[in-house]
Amino acid sequence: MSDNAHKIEAPHLGEPYLLTPGPLTTSYAVKQAMLRDWGSWDGEFRAVTAEMRKLLLELTGDTNGVLDCVPMQGSGTFTVEALLGSFIPREGKVLVLSNGAYGKRLVQTLEYLGRDHVVIDKGDYMPPRGDEVTAVLVADPDITHVVVVHCETSSGILNPVSEISEAVYAQGRKLLIDSMSAFGAIPLDINEIRYDAMVSSANKCIEGVPGFGFIIARKDELEAAKGRSHSLSLDVHAQWSHMNKTGQWRFTPPTHVVVAFLEALKAHKAEGAVAGRGARYSNNRDAIVDGMRELGFETLLKDRWLSPIIVTFFCPADEAFEFEHFYELMKSKGFIIYPGKLTVADSFRIGCIGQMDADVMRQVVTAAGETLNEMGVDTAAPPESALNERAKLAA
Ligand SMILES: Cc1ncc(COP(=O)(O)O)c(C=O)c1O
Repeated sequence: MSDNAHKIEAPHLGEPYLLTPGPLTTSYAVKQAMLRDWGSWDGEFRAVTAEMRKLLLELTGDTNGVLDCVPMQGSGTFTVEALLGSFIPREGKVLVLSNGAYGKRLVQTLEYLGRDHVVIDKGDYMPPRGDEVTAVLVADPDITHVVVVHCETSSGILNPVSEISEAVYAQGRKLLIDSMSAFGAIPLDINEIRYDAMVSSANKCIEGVPGFGFIIARKDELEAAKGRSHSLSLDVHAQWSHMNKTGQWRFTPPTHVVVAFLEALKAHKAEGAVAGRGARYSNNRDAIVDGMRELGFETLLKDRWLSPIIVTFFCPADEAFEFEHFYELMKSKGFIIYPGKLTVADSFRIGCIGQMDADVMRQVVTAAGETLNEMGVDTAAPPESALNERAKLAA
Protein backbone atom coordinates (compact mmCIF):
# COMPACT_ATOMS: atom_id res chain seq x y z
CA MET A 1 0.00 0.00 0.00
CA SER A 2 1.40 3.42 -0.92
CA ASP A 3 1.49 6.17 1.70
CA ASN A 4 -1.11 8.11 -0.26
CA ALA A 5 -3.56 5.22 -0.40
CA HIS A 6 -4.97 6.23 2.94
CA LYS A 7 -4.69 9.87 3.79
CA ILE A 8 -5.54 10.87 7.33
CA GLU A 9 -7.11 14.28 7.63
CA ALA A 10 -7.59 16.24 10.84
CA PRO A 11 -11.25 16.55 11.95
CA HIS A 12 -12.78 19.10 9.56
CA LEU A 13 -14.81 20.96 12.17
CA GLY A 14 -11.80 21.34 14.44
CA GLU A 15 -13.25 19.05 17.08
CA PRO A 16 -10.77 17.18 19.31
CA TYR A 17 -9.40 13.80 18.25
CA LEU A 18 -11.09 10.99 20.15
CA LEU A 19 -8.33 8.83 21.62
CA THR A 20 -11.10 6.58 22.85
CA PRO A 21 -11.96 3.05 21.75
CA GLY A 22 -15.26 3.91 20.07
CA PRO A 23 -16.99 6.19 19.40
CA LEU A 24 -13.80 7.21 17.67
CA THR A 25 -12.61 9.80 15.18
CA THR A 26 -14.15 9.02 11.80
CA SER A 27 -13.26 10.33 8.35
CA TYR A 28 -15.14 13.20 6.79
CA ALA A 29 -16.29 10.86 4.00
CA VAL A 30 -17.95 8.59 6.58
CA LYS A 31 -19.74 11.55 8.17
CA GLN A 32 -20.69 12.94 4.76
CA ALA A 33 -22.34 9.63 3.79
CA MET A 34 -24.99 10.40 6.41
CA LEU A 35 -26.34 13.49 4.63
CA ARG A 36 -28.86 11.56 2.51
CA ASP A 37 -32.09 9.98 3.70
CA TRP A 38 -33.00 6.39 2.82
CA GLY A 39 -36.21 4.38 2.82
CA SER A 40 -35.55 1.41 5.07
CA TRP A 41 -37.62 -0.94 2.82
CA ASP A 42 -36.34 0.54 -0.45
CA GLY A 43 -34.29 -1.57 -2.85
CA GLU A 44 -31.30 0.80 -2.68
CA PHE A 45 -31.06 0.48 1.09
CA ARG A 46 -31.53 -3.28 0.91
CA ALA A 47 -28.57 -3.35 -1.49
CA VAL A 48 -26.52 -1.39 1.06
CA THR A 49 -27.35 -3.94 3.76
CA ALA A 50 -26.49 -6.86 1.47
CA GLU A 51 -23.15 -5.35 0.45
CA MET A 52 -22.27 -4.56 4.05
CA ARG A 53 -22.93 -8.17 5.11
CA LYS A 54 -20.87 -9.46 2.19
CA LEU A 55 -17.91 -7.18 2.93
CA LEU A 56 -17.95 -8.15 6.61
CA LEU A 57 -17.92 -11.83 5.74
CA GLU A 58 -14.92 -11.24 3.46
CA LEU A 59 -12.95 -10.32 6.59
CA THR A 60 -13.46 -13.76 8.16
CA GLY A 61 -11.53 -15.90 5.67
CA ASP A 62 -14.63 -18.09 5.17
CA THR A 63 -14.35 -19.36 1.61
CA ASN A 64 -16.84 -22.22 2.06
CA GLY A 65 -19.93 -20.21 2.94
CA VAL A 66 -20.04 -21.65 6.44
CA LEU A 67 -20.66 -18.31 8.16
CA ASP A 68 -23.28 -15.60 7.87
CA CYS A 69 -23.48 -12.05 9.17
CA VAL A 70 -26.44 -10.66 11.11
CA PRO A 71 -26.47 -6.93 11.92
CA MET A 72 -28.45 -5.93 15.05
CA GLN A 73 -29.66 -2.44 16.04
CA GLY A 74 -28.25 -0.94 19.23
CA SER A 75 -24.86 -0.57 20.89
CA GLY A 76 -22.33 -3.37 21.34
CA THR A 77 -23.86 -4.51 24.62
CA PHE A 78 -27.24 -5.06 22.93
CA THR A 79 -25.53 -7.27 20.36
CA VAL A 80 -23.64 -9.24 23.02
CA GLU A 81 -26.93 -9.81 24.84
CA ALA A 82 -28.53 -10.92 21.55
CA LEU A 83 -25.61 -13.30 20.98
CA LEU A 84 -25.75 -14.91 24.41
CA GLY A 85 -29.56 -15.16 24.44
CA SER A 86 -29.68 -16.70 20.98
CA PHE A 87 -26.70 -19.05 20.89
CA ILE A 88 -26.71 -20.53 24.36
CA PRO A 89 -29.51 -23.03 24.86
CA ARG A 90 -31.63 -22.39 27.94
CA GLU A 91 -30.34 -25.65 29.40
CA GLY A 92 -26.72 -24.81 28.37
CA LYS A 93 -23.89 -23.91 30.76
CA VAL A 94 -21.29 -21.25 30.06
CA LEU A 95 -17.69 -20.80 31.12
CA VAL A 96 -16.89 -17.08 31.07
CA LEU A 97 -13.24 -16.02 30.88
CA SER A 98 -13.15 -12.70 32.67
CA ASN A 99 -10.22 -10.30 32.95
CA GLY A 100 -11.81 -6.90 32.98
CA ALA A 101 -14.98 -4.84 32.72
CA TYR A 102 -16.31 -6.48 29.57
CA GLY A 103 -15.80 -9.98 30.95
CA LYS A 104 -17.75 -8.87 34.01
CA ARG A 105 -20.49 -7.55 31.75
CA LEU A 106 -20.74 -10.97 30.08
CA VAL A 107 -21.34 -12.49 33.51
CA GLN A 108 -23.93 -9.84 34.35
CA THR A 109 -25.73 -10.48 31.05
CA LEU A 110 -25.88 -14.22 31.71
CA GLU A 111 -27.34 -13.45 35.15
CA TYR A 112 -30.09 -11.37 33.51
CA LEU A 113 -30.69 -14.15 30.99
CA GLY A 114 -30.77 -16.82 33.68
CA ARG A 115 -28.18 -18.98 31.93
CA ASP A 116 -26.13 -21.28 34.13
CA HIS A 117 -22.47 -20.22 34.17
CA VAL A 118 -19.11 -20.47 35.89
CA VAL A 119 -16.29 -17.94 35.69
CA ILE A 120 -12.52 -18.01 35.49
CA ASP A 121 -11.93 -14.61 37.05
CA LYS A 122 -8.44 -13.25 36.34
CA GLY A 123 -9.07 -9.87 37.96
CA ASP A 124 -8.35 -6.61 36.17
CA TYR A 125 -6.05 -7.75 33.41
CA MET A 126 -4.29 -11.11 33.81
CA PRO A 127 -4.82 -13.21 30.66
CA PRO A 128 -6.90 -16.41 30.81
CA ARG A 129 -4.73 -19.25 29.46
CA GLY A 130 -5.54 -22.35 27.44
CA ASP A 131 -4.46 -24.83 30.13
CA GLU A 132 -6.72 -23.18 32.72
CA VAL A 133 -9.64 -23.51 30.32
CA THR A 134 -8.82 -27.17 29.68
CA ALA A 135 -8.73 -27.91 33.41
CA VAL A 136 -12.19 -26.39 34.02
CA LEU A 137 -13.74 -28.08 30.98
CA VAL A 138 -12.33 -31.48 31.93
CA ALA A 139 -13.68 -31.11 35.47
CA ASP A 140 -17.15 -29.97 34.36
CA PRO A 141 -18.67 -31.89 31.43
CA ASP A 142 -21.92 -29.87 31.73
CA ILE A 143 -20.25 -26.79 30.26
CA THR A 144 -21.43 -26.36 26.66
CA HIS A 145 -19.99 -22.95 25.73
CA VAL A 146 -16.98 -20.77 26.51
CA VAL A 147 -17.14 -16.99 26.08
CA VAL A 148 -14.06 -14.77 25.86
CA VAL A 149 -13.33 -11.10 25.16
CA HIS A 150 -10.82 -10.76 22.31
CA CYS A 151 -9.26 -7.42 23.25
CA GLU A 152 -10.31 -6.56 26.81
CA THR A 153 -10.75 -2.86 26.15
CA SER A 154 -10.74 -1.99 29.84
CA SER A 155 -7.00 -2.74 30.17
CA GLY A 156 -6.07 -3.05 26.48
CA ILE A 157 -4.87 -6.64 26.80
CA LEU A 158 -5.06 -8.84 23.73
CA ASN A 159 -6.30 -12.15 25.08
CA PRO A 160 -4.76 -15.36 23.67
CA VAL A 161 -7.88 -16.45 21.75
CA SER A 162 -5.97 -18.88 19.57
CA GLU A 163 -4.83 -21.13 22.46
CA ILE A 164 -8.23 -20.70 24.13
CA SER A 165 -10.01 -21.83 20.95
CA GLU A 166 -7.79 -24.91 20.73
CA ALA A 167 -8.52 -25.79 24.33
CA VAL A 168 -12.28 -25.35 23.86
CA TYR A 169 -12.62 -27.49 20.72
CA ALA A 170 -10.20 -30.14 22.00
CA GLN A 171 -12.83 -30.70 24.71
CA GLY A 172 -15.70 -30.68 22.21
CA ARG A 173 -17.27 -27.41 23.44
CA LYS A 174 -18.20 -24.21 21.55
CA LEU A 175 -16.51 -20.81 21.61
CA LEU A 176 -18.23 -17.41 21.40
CA ILE A 177 -15.98 -14.34 21.07
CA ASP A 178 -16.66 -10.72 22.01
CA SER A 179 -14.39 -9.16 19.41
CA MET A 180 -15.99 -5.75 19.79
CA SER A 181 -12.85 -3.66 19.85
CA ALA A 182 -10.59 -6.02 17.85
CA PHE A 183 -12.46 -7.20 14.75
CA GLY A 184 -11.21 -5.47 11.62
CA ALA A 185 -7.72 -4.77 12.97
CA ILE A 186 -6.70 -8.03 14.68
CA PRO A 187 -6.93 -11.17 12.52
CA LEU A 188 -9.82 -13.47 13.40
CA ASP A 189 -9.61 -15.83 10.44
CA ILE A 190 -11.97 -18.79 10.82
CA ASN A 191 -9.34 -21.05 9.25
CA GLU A 192 -6.85 -20.10 11.97
CA ILE A 193 -9.04 -19.57 15.01
CA ARG A 194 -12.14 -21.71 15.30
CA TYR A 195 -15.28 -20.16 16.79
CA ASP A 196 -19.04 -20.66 16.51
CA ALA A 197 -20.03 -17.00 16.72
CA MET A 198 -18.46 -13.61 17.31
CA VAL A 199 -19.72 -10.11 17.83
CA SER A 200 -18.45 -6.62 17.01
CA SER A 201 -19.92 -3.19 16.32
CA ALA A 202 -19.97 -0.35 13.80
CA ASN A 203 -18.01 2.20 15.80
CA LYS A 204 -14.79 0.29 16.44
CA CYS A 205 -11.99 -0.82 14.09
CA ILE A 206 -13.99 -0.48 10.88
CA GLU A 207 -14.33 3.21 11.87
CA GLY A 208 -18.05 3.79 11.44
CA VAL A 209 -20.31 5.75 13.77
CA PRO A 210 -22.29 4.16 16.65
CA GLY A 211 -25.74 2.66 16.13
CA PHE A 212 -25.55 -1.07 15.51
CA GLY A 213 -23.52 -4.22 16.05
CA PHE A 214 -23.17 -7.41 14.08
CA ILE A 215 -22.84 -11.10 14.74
CA ILE A 216 -20.88 -13.43 12.51
CA ALA A 217 -21.83 -17.03 13.16
CA ARG A 218 -21.90 -20.50 11.68
CA LYS A 219 -25.08 -20.97 9.69
CA ASP A 220 -25.83 -24.24 11.49
CA GLU A 221 -25.65 -22.39 14.82
CA LEU A 222 -27.96 -19.68 13.43
CA GLU A 223 -30.44 -22.40 12.43
CA ALA A 224 -30.20 -23.98 15.87
CA ALA A 225 -30.95 -20.61 17.51
CA LYS A 226 -34.56 -20.65 16.28
CA GLY A 227 -37.06 -20.03 19.06
CA ARG A 228 -34.37 -19.76 21.73
CA SER A 229 -34.16 -16.03 22.39
CA HIS A 230 -35.75 -14.52 25.49
CA SER A 231 -36.29 -11.25 23.63
CA LEU A 232 -38.29 -10.21 20.58
CA SER A 233 -35.95 -7.44 19.43
CA LEU A 234 -32.72 -9.30 20.28
CA ASP A 235 -33.67 -12.55 18.51
CA VAL A 236 -30.72 -13.19 16.18
CA HIS A 237 -32.38 -16.08 14.34
CA ALA A 238 -35.48 -13.99 13.62
CA GLN A 239 -33.41 -11.06 12.33
CA TRP A 240 -31.33 -13.43 10.20
CA SER A 241 -34.19 -15.30 8.58
CA HIS A 242 -36.19 -12.10 7.98
CA MET A 243 -33.17 -10.41 6.41
CA ASN A 244 -32.45 -13.41 4.21
CA LYS A 245 -36.08 -13.57 3.07
CA THR A 246 -36.77 -9.86 2.54
CA GLY A 247 -33.39 -8.10 2.47
CA GLN A 248 -34.76 -5.86 5.23
CA TRP A 249 -34.05 -5.37 8.90
CA ARG A 250 -36.93 -6.53 11.12
CA PHE A 251 -37.41 -3.18 12.86
CA THR A 252 -36.33 0.37 11.89
CA PRO A 253 -32.63 0.25 11.01
CA PRO A 254 -30.26 3.16 11.75
CA THR A 255 -30.22 3.92 8.01
CA HIS A 256 -27.67 6.75 8.05
CA VAL A 257 -25.35 4.77 10.30
CA VAL A 258 -25.51 1.74 8.01
CA VAL A 259 -24.70 3.81 4.91
CA ALA A 260 -21.82 5.48 6.76
CA PHE A 261 -20.58 2.04 7.81
CA LEU A 262 -20.55 0.84 4.20
CA GLU A 263 -18.40 3.87 3.34
CA ALA A 264 -16.11 2.94 6.24
CA LEU A 265 -15.90 -0.67 5.04
CA LYS A 266 -14.82 0.47 1.57
CA ALA A 267 -12.09 2.63 3.12
CA HIS A 268 -11.06 -0.34 5.28
CA LYS A 269 -10.67 -2.49 2.16
CA ALA A 270 -8.72 0.26 0.34
CA GLU A 271 -6.35 0.49 3.32
CA GLY A 272 -5.49 -3.19 3.00
CA ALA A 273 -8.32 -4.65 5.10
CA VAL A 274 -7.39 -6.27 8.43
CA ALA A 275 -3.63 -6.31 7.73
CA GLY A 276 -3.51 -2.67 6.60
CA ARG A 277 -5.70 -1.41 9.42
CA GLY A 278 -3.82 -3.46 11.98
CA ALA A 279 -0.49 -2.13 10.71
CA ARG A 280 -1.57 1.51 11.07
CA TYR A 281 -2.92 0.90 14.57
CA SER A 282 0.29 -0.92 15.55
CA ASN A 283 2.32 2.06 14.38
CA ASN A 284 0.01 4.30 16.41
CA ARG A 285 0.56 2.15 19.49
CA ASP A 286 4.34 2.10 19.04
CA ALA A 287 4.45 5.88 18.62
CA ILE A 288 2.36 6.56 21.74
CA VAL A 289 4.08 3.93 23.90
CA ASP A 290 7.62 5.01 22.91
CA GLY A 291 6.81 8.71 23.36
CA MET A 292 5.01 8.33 26.69
CA ARG A 293 7.80 6.10 28.05
CA GLU A 294 10.29 8.82 27.11
CA LEU A 295 8.24 11.19 29.26
CA GLY A 296 8.57 8.69 32.13
CA PHE A 297 5.10 7.07 31.93
CA GLU A 298 4.82 3.30 32.37
CA THR A 299 2.36 0.96 30.69
CA LEU A 300 0.31 -1.50 32.73
CA LEU A 301 1.16 -4.32 30.35
CA LYS A 302 4.43 -5.78 29.16
CA ASP A 303 4.97 -5.38 25.43
CA ARG A 304 3.82 -8.89 24.51
CA TRP A 305 0.28 -8.23 25.83
CA LEU A 306 -0.11 -4.69 24.47
CA SER A 307 -2.85 -4.50 21.84
CA PRO A 308 -2.81 -2.01 18.98
CA ILE A 309 -6.28 -0.94 20.18
CA ILE A 310 -5.83 0.91 23.48
CA VAL A 311 -3.02 1.29 26.00
CA THR A 312 -3.31 1.70 29.79
CA PHE A 313 -0.76 3.99 31.43
CA PHE A 314 -0.30 4.33 35.19
CA CYS A 315 -0.96 7.79 36.59
CA PRO A 316 2.22 9.45 37.86
CA ALA A 317 2.88 9.26 41.61
CA ASP A 318 3.76 12.99 41.65
CA GLU A 319 1.28 14.80 43.91
CA ALA A 320 0.80 17.57 41.34
CA PHE A 321 -0.83 15.05 38.97
CA GLU A 322 -4.59 14.92 38.96
CA PHE A 323 -6.34 13.04 36.14
CA GLU A 324 -9.32 15.40 35.67
CA HIS A 325 -6.95 18.36 35.28
CA PHE A 326 -4.70 16.40 32.90
CA TYR A 327 -7.82 15.43 30.89
CA GLU A 328 -9.04 19.04 30.55
CA LEU A 329 -5.63 20.37 29.55
CA MET A 330 -5.23 17.56 26.96
CA LYS A 331 -8.69 18.33 25.60
CA SER A 332 -7.82 22.01 25.25
CA LYS A 333 -4.88 20.90 23.09
CA GLY A 334 -7.20 18.87 20.84
CA PHE A 335 -7.10 15.39 22.36
CA ILE A 336 -9.80 13.56 24.31
CA ILE A 337 -8.27 10.72 26.35
CA TYR A 338 -9.97 8.07 28.45
CA PRO A 339 -10.03 7.39 32.19
CA GLY A 340 -8.67 4.05 33.40
CA LYS A 341 -10.83 1.12 34.53
CA LEU A 342 -8.34 -0.63 36.82
CA THR A 343 -9.31 -1.29 40.42
CA VAL A 344 -5.72 -1.96 41.54
CA ALA A 345 -3.99 1.29 40.52
CA ASP A 346 -4.80 4.78 39.20
CA SER A 347 -4.53 4.78 35.44
CA PHE A 348 -5.72 6.34 32.20
CA ARG A 349 -6.01 5.02 28.67
CA ILE A 350 -5.09 6.23 25.22
CA GLY A 351 -6.82 4.65 22.23
CA CYS A 352 -4.91 3.89 19.03
CA ILE A 353 -7.94 3.31 16.80
CA GLY A 354 -9.80 5.74 14.53
CA GLN A 355 -8.69 8.22 11.90
CA MET A 356 -5.22 8.84 13.33
CA ASP A 357 -1.70 7.97 12.32
CA ALA A 358 1.69 7.95 14.06
CA ASP A 359 2.11 11.71 13.42
CA VAL A 360 -1.05 12.40 15.39
CA MET A 361 0.16 10.11 18.17
CA ARG A 362 3.43 12.05 18.36
CA GLN A 363 1.39 15.24 18.71
CA VAL A 364 -0.43 13.57 21.61
CA VAL A 365 2.92 12.87 23.28
CA THR A 366 4.02 16.49 22.79
CA ALA A 367 0.72 17.68 24.29
CA ALA A 368 1.17 15.29 27.26
CA GLY A 369 4.70 16.61 27.88
CA GLU A 370 3.49 20.23 27.80
CA THR A 371 0.58 19.37 30.07
CA LEU A 372 2.85 17.81 32.69
CA ASN A 373 4.96 20.99 32.67
CA GLU A 374 1.87 23.18 33.06
CA MET A 375 0.70 21.03 36.00
CA GLY A 376 4.13 21.20 37.63
CA VAL A 377 4.61 17.42 37.48
CA ASP A 378 8.35 16.74 37.66
CA THR A 379 8.25 13.06 36.85
CA ALA A 380 5.64 10.80 35.27
CA ALA A 381 6.95 7.76 37.16
CA PRO A 382 4.14 5.68 38.74
CA PRO A 383 3.97 4.70 42.42
CA GLU A 384 5.82 1.58 43.58
CA SER A 385 2.50 -0.19 44.24
CA ALA A 386 1.55 0.07 40.56
CA LEU A 387 4.85 -1.47 39.49
CA ASN A 388 4.30 -4.31 41.98
CA GLU A 389 0.94 -4.96 40.34
CA ARG A 390 2.62 -5.12 36.97
CA ALA A 391 5.25 -7.55 38.22
CA LYS A 392 2.45 -10.12 38.66
CA LEU A 393 2.19 -10.45 34.89
CA ALA A 394 5.78 -11.58 34.64
CA ALA A 395 5.40 -14.05 37.51
C1 LIG B 1 -14.86 -5.69 24.34
C2 LIG B 1 -16.12 -4.88 24.46
N1 LIG B 1 -17.29 -5.51 24.68
C3 LIG B 1 -18.44 -4.84 24.79
C4 LIG B 1 -18.48 -3.46 24.69
C5 LIG B 1 -19.79 -2.76 24.86
O1 LIG B 1 -20.14 -1.98 23.75
P1 LIG B 1 -21.09 -0.72 23.91
O2 LIG B 1 -20.41 0.24 24.84
O3 LIG B 1 -21.19 -0.22 22.49
O4 LIG B 1 -22.40 -1.18 24.42
C6 LIG B 1 -17.29 -2.75 24.47
C7 LIG B 1 -17.29 -1.28 24.37
O5 LIG B 1 -16.27 -0.64 24.26
C8 LIG B 1 -16.09 -3.49 24.35
O6 LIG B 1 -14.91 -2.86 24.15
